[in-house]
Amino acid sequence: LPIGVLVSGSGSNLQSIIDSIEQGRLDAEIKVVISNIHDAFALKRAQNHSIPTLVISHENFETREAFDEAIVRALKSNRIELVVMAGFMRIITHVLLDAYPGKIMNIHPALLPSFPGMHAQRQAVDYGAKFSGCTVHFVDSGVDSGPIIIQAVVPVLDDDTEETLSARILKEEHRIYPQAIQYFASGRIRLNNRRVMIAEGQC
Ligand code: GRF
Repeated sequence: LPIGVLVSGSGSNLQSIIDSIEQGRLDAEIKVVISNIHDAFALKRAQNHSIPTLVISHENFETREAFDEAIVRALKSNRIELVVMAGFMRIITHVLLDAYPGKIMNIHPALLPSFPGMHAQRQAVDYGAKFSGCTVHFVDSGVDSGPIIIQAVVPVLDDDTEETLSARILKEEHRIYPQAIQYFASGRIRLNNRRVMIAEGQC
C-alpha cells in the first residue's frame, strides 16, 4: 500500500510506522513524508530511512484551500492510496478530503469524542477523567470527528501531569496506528454508515 505521511513535529508516530514496515508487520510503503514545518524532526527520521521528504509551508499560501491543493498535487504525483496524518497540525479542507474520500487517517491523543482539539491530554487531566487514551479515525470535515477505527485506553493517575499522561498515551499511539494502517492495507476495513467494521483475519 503506497502511503503518504503528513507531519508537523517530532514524528514519533511516523517512526513507529517506519519500524513496523521494516519489521514486516505492516504491508505499506511510505512514498513521501510531507511537513508544513521546515525543521520538523520528523523530516530527519524519514531521511534516516531514505524516505523522500517534502516541505510545503502553509505560510506560502493565501488560503487553506491553496495549501491543500499543493499537498494533493504532491500526494497524487506519488500515487499514494492512503493519507496518514501523524502529528500534522493543520486543519484540512474539502480540497484534500475530496481528493481522498475515506482514505485519510488521523491519530488523536484522547478517547474521542471526548477531548477533541488541542491539548487533549491536558484537557483529560484538568477534567479529572480516570481513563483516557488515543483514537485512530478516518478524517471527515470536522475536527477529530470522523469514524473511529481503533482506540486504546490508559488510566489517568492522581499525580499525572500533561507530560506524564502524554507519554503513557503516546506508547499506545505507537502500537495502534500501524495496526490501523495494516487493517486498511489488508482490506479488512468496511464502512457501514459511519461505523468502521474490521473483518476477522490475521493481522
Ligand atoms: C501525538 O500525540 C498525536 O496524537 C497528536 O500529535 C502528537 C504527534 O506526535 N496528533 P509525533 O509527532 O508523532 O511524535
